[in-house]
Amino acid sequence: KWPKAVTIKEVGPRDGLQNEQSFIKTEDKITFINQLSQTGLPYIEITSFVHPKWIPSLADSFEVAMGIHRVEGVTYGALVPNMKGLEKALKANIDEVSVFMSASETHNKRNINKTIEDTYPIIKQVVHEALASGKSVRGYVSTVFGCPYEGEVAIRSITEVSEKLFEMGISELSLGDTIGVANPKQVQEILTVLLKRFPSKSLALHFHDTRGTALANVIASLDMGITTFDSSIGGLGGCPYAPRASGNLATDDLLFMLDGMEVYTGINKEKLHQTALFIQGKIDRPLLSHNFQADNGE
Ligand code: HMG
Ligand code: MG
Repeated sequence: KWPKAVTIKEVGPRDGLQNEQSFIKTEDKITFINQLSQTGLPYIEITSFVHPKWIPSLADSFEVAMGIHRVEGVTYGALVPNMKGLEKALKANIDEVSVFMSASETHNKRNINKTIEDTYPIIKQVVHEALASGKSVRGYVSTVFGCPYEGEVAIRSITEVSEKLFEMGISELSLGDTIGVANPKQVQEILTVLLKRFPSKSLALHFHDTRGTALANVIASLDMGITTFDSSIGGLGGCPYAPRASGNLATDDLLFMLDGMEVYTGINKEKLHQTALFIQGKIDRPLLSHNFQADNGE
């Protein structure tokens, strides 16, 4: 019933640190990513080449990308919103470019300052140029399971944005539960529609664990044939305006569950734990993932 293997894509250095209130020094980010590179993770999203005024915590993206030690077999990705971001990402020789937009109009506008319609040509050019430079491109669609401004999002909007991104040439689409409101029933309903259009191998699920439903949503997704998940070490991240709200699904919680289910991930639990300890020492709060708290006795 369960798959033999699952691919875990680590987004802690980007989605996690983007939402941490304390600014992590560039050298510490580099050490953090270098440690993650030794855990067996196949993919690390290391930063984003967005406007530093919008995401000040990742203002050192170029230095981070240039400073890390690349390990063979690990793909190093970064978020890119437009051509200005792509230029920097290419200069830093990032392996994979991630483009992103939302399925809901208001979130798209608040996040990247454009309507959905005006975002398409910008992303289209980014994808085209990235592919021409020999990079692979991943796409994100946010607010798939709910929008903080509009509430429920029409399935038509989700399929339309997804189709447009695949037409542009992305090789994988990550479906974002941006505010952590998804539930297993909804996950299966939305996947039923999307899997009629796109192969399961081309889809990834990106859950936030804000309300504790992320692992249940993983099970619901596995059940539908999905085998790629984004997660963040220690549940790094969260919402700067909600002090104890959790961030992304924690990599260590996901790993603990999959290890127990005998689903292969290739990740070393102990090395992951050491890396979590390192980054916890650099943010001014404890990491909140269940697994980290249990192992750390906090
Ligand atoms: P804008 O202000 O509309 O940009 O921002 P613009 O094109 O009008 O340019 C304005 C100025 O910004 C210009 O400078 C540009 O050069 C500069 P000026 O001429 O005034 O001096 N600029 C840039 N500078 C550096 N890097 C760039 C860049 N682009 C323009 N790339 C923009 C539009 C998209 C840039 C802005 O809205 C932005 O950076 N947004 C980022 C938002 C973000 O990072 N959000 C979080 C990531 S998404 C997420 O977390 C969801 C996800 O995890 C999945 C899920 O959970 O659902 C992926
Ligand atoms: Mg996210």
